Amino acid sequence: MIQISDLFKCFGRKIVHQGISFEVDKGEVLTIIGGSGSGKSVLLKQMVGLIKPDRGEIYIDGKAISHLEEEELQEVQKMIGYVFQEAALFDSLTVAENVSFGLYNLLKFSEHEAKKIVRDKLALVGLSGIEDLKPAQLSGGMKKRVGIARAIALNPKILLYDEPTTGLDPVMSDVINDLILKLKKETQTTAIAVTHDMKSAYKISDRIAMLYEGKILEIGTPQQIQNSKNPILRQFISGSSFGPIPIPGHKNNEHRN
Ligand SMILES: Nc1ncnc2c1ncn2[C@@H]1O[C@H](COP(=O)(O)OP(=O)(O)OP(=O)(O)O)[C@@H](O)[C@H]1O
Ligand SMILES: [Mg+2]
Repeated sequence: MIQISDLFKCFGRKIVHQGISFEVDKGEVLTIIGGSGSGKSVLLKQMVGLIKPDRGEIYIDGKAISHLEEEELQEVQKMIGYVFQEAALFDSLTVAENVSFGLYNLLKFSEHEAKKIVRDKLALVGLSGIEDLKPAQLSGGMKKRVGIARAIALNPKILLYDEPTTGLDPVMSDVINDLILKLKKETQTTAIAVTHDMKSAYKISDRIAMLYEGKILEIGTPQQIQNSKNPILRQFISGSSFGPIPIPGHKNNEHRN
């Protein structure tokens, strides 16, 4: 369903990706882990054409997206639901208007149809009846779930979740994990989730990939990742400040040098 082939991306002199390749099968959930600034969000943004790779290609359902005309790219974008890292709701719009935003803009649904979709999707994320609230009246967890409701409004074949549980309490995080699993089970949605939350990664993933220094350091099932002997991966998943991962200004990881 998704194929990333030898992707390179820099911003000025900052190299973000230097040869990334992997595939995600239909119905699979792949989680990408990696430190802050390792290029996880940039990777997701390239998959929907928001950022163009310098080299390499991304195939969505067999289509090479860097070669598409604007109209064809929009067709591909309709297949993909994107849950942004900061929920990215429009503050001046109500919840209902936020969730139905893509419906009017991309597909020209009638108001009646859009209302029904909004009601159904809010129910699915456990937020029935909040249509008329504004984002400022919502908690962080509610905003995340409204962001998910908006992403699934068009019944996408692919869902990209950028940090779906970050900043949520442990119970709400698990509600989101269950929701991701429910969408996978009920609709065969293919998903890529980006997260630092290892508990969530182990629960939702068929496979986990670690992004490090612009490359995929390792990719495997949650069990393979948990049993990895790679010292960088081990340090990351155990959340230790001691180990080979360089931390500017921090003396605790001296054994690297
Ligand atoms: N539009 C942009 N222009 C220039 N540099 C960018 C742009 N977007 C991202 N970057 C840089 O690319 C690098 C990777 O950013 P990215 O947002 O993908 O990190 P991340 O892995 O998602 O981090 P976090 O876990 O903190 O969200 C960073 O150094 C960032 O400053
Ligand atoms: Mg990010």
